[in-house]
Amino acid sequence: MADGNVSLQQAREEAYSLPLEQLNPAQPALFQADAMWPMFERLRKEAPVHYTAEHDFGPYWSVTKYNDIMAVDTNHQVFSSEGGITIAEQQGGEGPMPMFIAMDPPKHDIQRKTVSPAVSPTNLQRLEPLIRERAAKILDELPIGEEIDWVDLVSKELTAMTLATLFDVPQADRRRLTYWSDVVTAVPGQGLIDSLEHKMQIFAEYHAYFTELWNKKVNAEPTGDLISMLAHSPATRNMEPREYFGNVVLLTVGGNDTTRNTISGSIYALNKYPDQYKKLRDNPGVIPSMVSETIRWQTPLAHMRRRALQDVEFGGKTIRKGDKVIMWYVSGNRDDEVIENPDDYIIDRERPRTHLSFGFGIHRCVGNRLAELQLTIIWEEILKRFPEIVVTGEPKRVYSSFVKGYETLPLVIPRRV
Ligand code: HEM
Repeated sequence: MADGNVSLQQAREEAYSLPLEQLNPAQPALFQADAMWPMFERLRKEAPVHYTAEHDFGPYWSVTKYNDIMAVDTNHQVFSSEGGITIAEQQGGEGPMPMFIAMDPPKHDIQRKTVSPAVSPTNLQRLEPLIRERAAKILDELPIGEEIDWVDLVSKELTAMTLATLFDVPQADRRRLTYWSDVVTAVPGQGLIDSLEHKMQIFAEYHAYFTELWNKKVNAEPTGDLISMLAHSPATRNMEPREYFGNVVLLTVGGNDTTRNTISGSIYALNKYPDQYKKLRDNPGVIPSMVSETIRWQTPLAHMRRRALQDVEFGGKTIRKGDKVIMWYVSGNRDDEVIENPDDYIIDRERPRTHLSFGFGIHRCVGNRLAELQLTIIWEEILKRFPEIVVTGEPKRVYSSFVKGYETLPLVIPRRV
């Protein structure tokens, strides 16, 4: 397995020198070093449906091309989400936590329908002024001319505020949501948490907090937030406590990490491609297209996993019943048969919404419009205030082959408009 300091050059040499069957893209260290690209490039060219026989979490198939990923994602009859959607198996506790992203129909459909009004167009319209007011305040309070961590002061703040509103928890608790979200995806011993026991202990606090909230909501009139919806809907009000908590975890992570990492990714990408940053400053009308391009370029969730429900011929290979199949969105989004110059960040592409980052099929991201709304607003407010934002060092990336994001992003805002 690669260590965290692997360079892109080393990664390229390794990716092209190993026998094909030994390629193993699910290495968190490769993602942390942003050095997974050559392996995916080779897989797309030489083995677009590929089997890795040995891995800590057991053997798995990698699907790396755009159209193949689409074919798996839209075929839930054969490729099941039941029991988990990441390559990693959940450790500790009583096995996989039930949540609707990790369920098949009919249960999935019923639970998804229960929570989707929270992110309906009407509700987003209601949320818009609130998000804008908060974005403005966050930006107005940023220090000028000194190095700051954008992840902490902006990306986490805005997304935590939105999530606290969706859950109807006090704003004072918003950063607890961020912390819990990070703990969910953290690997023990890699910084945030020391051990599995430590993780379980934090989960217990997190669970207790949301049990109290459920009890409050279930005994009150419906209030239109996510917890109230779950507590009152006939489809979910009798859920087992574990299932309720599983769905809370899904909504915490879904509504948090992904958008946060795209906000950070947009600043990073625009600094890496100064001509694109200039294009944006000259024409703020391009913001919506820049937002989609960033979501593609960043690919905040690198993969989703499925399990075959039957033997199936796919891409010239035989996938056996029960096999794990990983759809590498991060790779499909760089497939040059579908996306022109896919490695480049081009904010006014012809079809910027052609990307896999929100998935497809019955599990397609329910919060996609909310994510785009937050990104659009923060950029509209940034352009009103700051002529320039200058990244001053490389970001620290997350140690994960699932969450593709940033722990820190150092930068300076030289002046206001
Ligand atoms: C840029 C931001 C986001 C990205 C890249 C993203 C990505 C994804 C992906 C890849 C899936 C699974 C798709 C599939 O399996 O086909 C998903 C599902 C989901 N997302 Fe998002 N997401 C984002 C923002 C959000 C937000 C803001 C929310 C908050 C409500 C959210 C809530 C969910 C939920 C609840 C699901 C499960 C849907 C289902 O199983 O039916 N996501 N998201």
